[in-house]
Amino acid sequence: MEKRIYHLSLPLRKQNSIAPGYWLLSLKSAQIASVATPGQFVMLKIGKSFDPLLPRPMSIHSIIKEDNHRLGFTILYKVVGKGTRLLAEKRSGESLAIVGPLGTGFNLNHIASGYEPIVVGGGIGIAPLLFLAHELVEKGQTPTVFLGANSQEELLALDEFESLRLTPKVSTEDGSKGVKGMVTDLLASYLDDSKGSQGEIFACGPAPMLKKVASLAKSYGLKSQLSLEQRMACGLGACLGCVVKIRNKNSGHSYQRVCTEGPVFNGEDIIW
Ligand SMILES: Cc1cc2nc3c(=O)[nH]c(=O)nc-3n(C[C@H](O)[C@H](O)[C@H](O)COP(=O)(O)OP(=O)(O)OC[C@H]3O[C@@H](n4cnc5c(N)ncnc54)[C@H](O)[C@@H]3O)c2cc1C
Ligand code: FES
Repeated sequence: MEKRIYHLSLPLRKQNSIAPGYWLLSLKSAQIASVATPGQFVMLKIGKSFDPLLPRPMSIHSIIKEDNHRLGFTILYKVVGKGTRLLAEKRSGESLAIVGPLGTGFNLNHIASGYEPIVVGGGIGIAPLLFLAHELVEKGQTPTVFLGANSQEELLALDEFESLRLTPKVSTEDGSKGVKGMVTDLLASYLDDSKGSQGEIFACGPAPMLKKVASLAKSYGLKSQLSLEQRMACGLGACLGCVVKIRNKNSGHSYQRVCTEGPVFNGEDIIW
């Protein structure tokens, strides 16, 4: 099926700081919301001037619905540099140039009963996972969710996962909430206790976390789908600035674009 991509100028509906340095913004666009799938992203042009020149990629965090109609979407982001700092200064009514939805998200076509989706998010990597958890619940699944952050303050969207009647297993590096340590340690002990689960891991987070998730999935004979991050210039497949090395059956490997063939790839195919 051909993917629909919209180029729109959208007024910012609402923007709130949800923790120091973290923001949640809402945009109204039934067009983007009605065709978006979990793991897809939008390119967001932040300023009208030349600096920052390039748009910034941001995942679709959740879909805004009213009476079961998809009306818009939210973005959850962390301020890390100039673009995100300027974005945090935007107020309701100001417009943003948006292109999306983009990329190939999580593949949920094969999900059936008797199957356990395991969702793992680290840091701001939880951004695309709320939309994913929502879709899994709509498909009748009860995903097991693992969320990790530096501290309780940076553990985002916990309430939203709980409102889906999920009970995330939580870790923080400073021990201020949940188990002290890395989310991958928590995942490893869970997989150890539940040997033989017919599951698949869906993860997003920093590259070292994803590499560890891929290796755990391999050790326990599970499939994994991992959402990768790369710096992006166009987001549309044209500049080849975002390629990663992916194993293929014929010639050993090929370079694939995170913005087009990804951001989600099968964990076993990624050459780290
Ligand atoms: C598909 C995709 C989805 C994303 N979704 C989200 C999201 O939902 N929420 C969110 O907070 N962030 C997300 N990001 C990361 C986000 O795009 C960057 O943080 C943002 O572009 C930084 O812009 P800036 O101008 O503030 O920072 P810059 O000044 O450009 O950079 C500041 C620092 O961030 C690093 N950085 C910048 N862009 C990236 C990138 N794409 N990948 C890795 N490191 C980067 C730079 O190396 C530098 O150290 C996503 C990235 C991708 C590729
Ligand atoms: S960002 Fe240009 S090809 Fe991916």
